[in-house]
Amino acid sequence: MPTPPNDSFTSSSPAPSKTNANTRLSQINQHTATMGSAGEHTLFDANVVPQAPEDPLFGLMAAYRKDTSDKKVDLGIGAYRDNNAKPWVLPVVKKADEILRNDPNLNHEYLPIAGLPEFTSAAQKLILGADSPAIKESRVTSLQTISGTGAVHLGGLFLAKFLSKPTPAIYLSNPTWANHNQIFTNVHLSIKQYPYFSAKTKMLDLEGMLSTLKSAPQGSIVLLHACAHNPTGVDPTQDQWKQIAEVVRSNKLFPFFDCAYQGFASGDLAKDNFAIRYFVEEGFELVIAQSFAKNFGLYGERAGSFHFVASPGSNAQDVVKRVGSQLAILQRSEISNPPAYGARIASIVLNDEALFKQWEEDLRTMSGRIIEMRKSLKAELDKLDTPGNWDHITSQIGMFSFTGLAEAQVLAIREKWHVYMTKNGRISMAGLNTGNVKYFAEALDDVVRNVK
Ligand code: LMR
Repeated sequence: MPTPPNDSFTSSSPAPSKTNANTRLSQINQHTATMGSAGEHTLFDANVVPQAPEDPLFGLMAAYRKDTSDKKVDLGIGAYRDNNAKPWVLPVVKKADEILRNDPNLNHEYLPIAGLPEFTSAAQKLILGADSPAIKESRVTSLQTISGTGAVHLGGLFLAKFLSKPTPAIYLSNPTWANHNQIFTNVHLSIKQYPYFSAKTKMLDLEGMLSTLKSAPQGSIVLLHACAHNPTGVDPTQDQWKQIAEVVRSNKLFPFFDCAYQGFASGDLAKDNFAIRYFVEEGFELVIAQSFAKNFGLYGERAGSFHFVASPGSNAQDVVKRVGSQLAILQRSEISNPPAYGARIASIVLNDEALFKQWEEDLRTMSGRIIEMRKSLKAELDKLDTPGNWDHITSQIGMFSFTGLAEAQVLAIREKWHVYMTKNGRISMAGLNTGNVKYFAEALDDVVRNVK
């Protein structure tokens, strides 16, 4: 309630005279009129702040939750589900959580600006390999971030601020994780694309990718998905990575790796990170965004890290020190310091040999179930003799499959069969289970045959 211009009506002073009362009434009328126009006034009308569309992925999740059909299938967001379509708390995470809760020294003080040191150092070893030359030569600086998204953002912000002007563009794969576009646009990097996926072969368009990267202006940034490419599920082979590295080197591009699915592609942590380790061995200066959302099932805890790796050389440690100091300033101004819980859980596991082994087992459980679902889906489609070639269901890897469905088919499968997937035809394989894979194959078969 706004305070009246003066408090004479509510005070215990004697009753006002008639003239005073009239003046007072007109004051109130005036005040109310001003309030009315103040209420209508805004600096943010629709041509300044237009209504934004709902985030497609989180909108899809909300639509799925609202759907009351008992047949509904959620193949939208990339989050692991068990065979009962339920979120899965990794057994190793439960153990770590118990260790954490029973720690008598636990408190809720701030973490350092760069995060929990035992977490970031373990994250470095995980992503680069424990015997990485870059770690041995102290050529890496790392900060704990708000999961992979925060790491991508911090990297974008740093590059936009410090790369020499005019700031080079960043090349993203076509297609890529939708949020890449928003994040890099927000830090004012201009975005270009390189071909990645061939709709015809449903495989990597290596030729298109290499030729675009070859003709990119020198110094451009190139965003590479380290493994389990989102959304296509198509990764370069080791030999193809070497060819990509060659072009990145010859054209002096700056590699920015996004690694959100280590352990999900093959189930083997080292194998999944071949590309990053190869680039580091080859001596590139590069940055890496690393997420622990998927491989630890710590989605909402926002555990991640950002790494800067300097090229070998006598000034490498100096570069790392200066870069680290500027990253800390950016971090401080944006989030002050990162959240503790998820990083503590991951750190307990990563720094304990027995728990680490159990984690690898849990990773195999997740990636193994997804691989089984790929096989089952392919077998069901074969049984139905669904038109088209579906080999890509089993040849693609990681959390996602790019089905090749057109947007009309995606909308139809949602409308008629209550199956939710992103408009580009991506499905999260983790949403399939022994209870719904046959149903999904029938739905897919129906829209492939009947919706053009
Ligand atoms: C996805 O692509 O489904 C995940 O990476 C979740 C997200 O934040 O977009």
